[in-house]
Amino acid sequence: MPKTILLTGGAGYIGSHTALEMIRAGYEVVVADNLSNGSRESLNRVERLTGVRIRFYQADVRDARALEDIFIECDIGGVVHFAGLKAVGESVEKPLLYYRHNLDATLSLLEVMARRGVGTLIFSSSATVYDPACAPVYTEDAPLKPVNPYGWTKFMCERIIKDACAAEKGLSALLLRYFNPVGAHESGLIGEDPRGVPNNLMPYISQVAVGRREYLTVHGGDYPTPDGTGIRDYIHVSDLARGHVAALDFLLANPCVDEINLGTGRGCSVLEVVKAFERASGRPIPYRIGPRRSGDIAAFWADATKARKKLGWEARHDLSEMCADAWRWQSMNPGGYEL
Ligand code: NAD
Ligand code: UD1
Repeated sequence: MPKTILLTGGAGYIGSHTALEMIRAGYEVVVADNLSNGSRESLNRVERLTGVRIRFYQADVRDARALEDIFIECDIGGVVHFAGLKAVGESVEKPLLYYRHNLDATLSLLEVMARRGVGTLIFSSSATVYDPACAPVYTEDAPLKPVNPYGWTKFMCERIIKDACAAEKGLSALLLRYFNPVGAHESGLIGEDPRGVPNNLMPYISQVAVGRREYLTVHGGDYPTPDGTGIRDYIHVSDLARGHVAALDFLLANPCVDEINLGTGRGCSVLEVVKAFERASGRPIPYRIGPRRSGDIAAFWADATKARKKLGWEARHDLSEMCADAWRWQSMNPGGYEL
């Protein structure tokens, strides 16, 4: 019997791509999402791509009663916990909202898992938990020191999950620290659909390419990097999604508690991304160099050795494929999922 896995926040960007890869790997997928930042249409499209129906519940993970009903109805055997708020700038303006939301979601999920005897959890963490003073290359044992409330919620949720695992024999968890997920599924049917003005680089560039924005502002051209712009470890979202399948396969076979970086191990600058996107799309990306964005650091990327050794996973797609797939999604869906 395939295990039935609950994806909280599974109608979002990373969740929808992971749902697709999990179904392809033979898991049965159930999604609980309140649709505050996700779209039911993303799952319709995953159904189209896989030919498999996804059981979907429009539910808030903080609502423990609603969550428990889903566990009972679907006989959930494991959870991938994506649901949460993720905008760094907003978290600085509304810290209480972020702490309340992200901690409540994780606490309510852990309580329901304990009540239902479900012991397998994959958690969406972030490279943002690391101490920037230890950049550029982060191994999992690098010191942690988030610099914004969003990052602290990830740090705290990691701590809460570890403490719960220590207290409950049956609970095991992998805390996946994502670097910079970008791109879209190669079909162009699912992708990133940010609401409002994108904060992150790749969706902003895509919208410039498609004509929704006039130009990109490069946040800082005077960093101590070869071309003066910031360097990040961009990872194709489908590689990231496969990383979740590898993590789940591993955790079901080897219960443990551990944190694992999901990145490529390589850094690219903002201007390298701009040039790669121009090549992939055949369109110019006008840009202007602006001041540094507050809270940004010059450069960081993953040491991805642990994921390779432990999970047998590594990223396959390079920057040109990330840009080509982001462009395919953007040009096939210029307004995102809204038809
Ligand atoms: P997303 O906003 O596209 O997906 C999150 C989904 O969770 C959305 O569909 C939203 O509607 C849903 N959601 C939010 N709060 C909920 C709640 N209380 N109950 C039910 N559903 C809820 O974001 P994403 O980019 O797919 O990120 C997924 C996870 O990965 C998040 O936890 C995020 O913090 C983490 N992460 C993302 C990135 C990134 O760059 N995208 C990087 C590091 C970590
Ligand atoms: C941001 C978040 C980080 C989160 C990550 C997930 C901030 C400060 N940090 O990281 O917590 O885990 O997203 O993907 O928001 N850039 C521009 N112009 C733009 C947008 C970005 O030049 O319009 C530059 C940035 O300065 C940076 C690079 O592009 O050098 C990547 O930025 P972004 O996509 O926002 O990711 P991070 O800053 O790495």
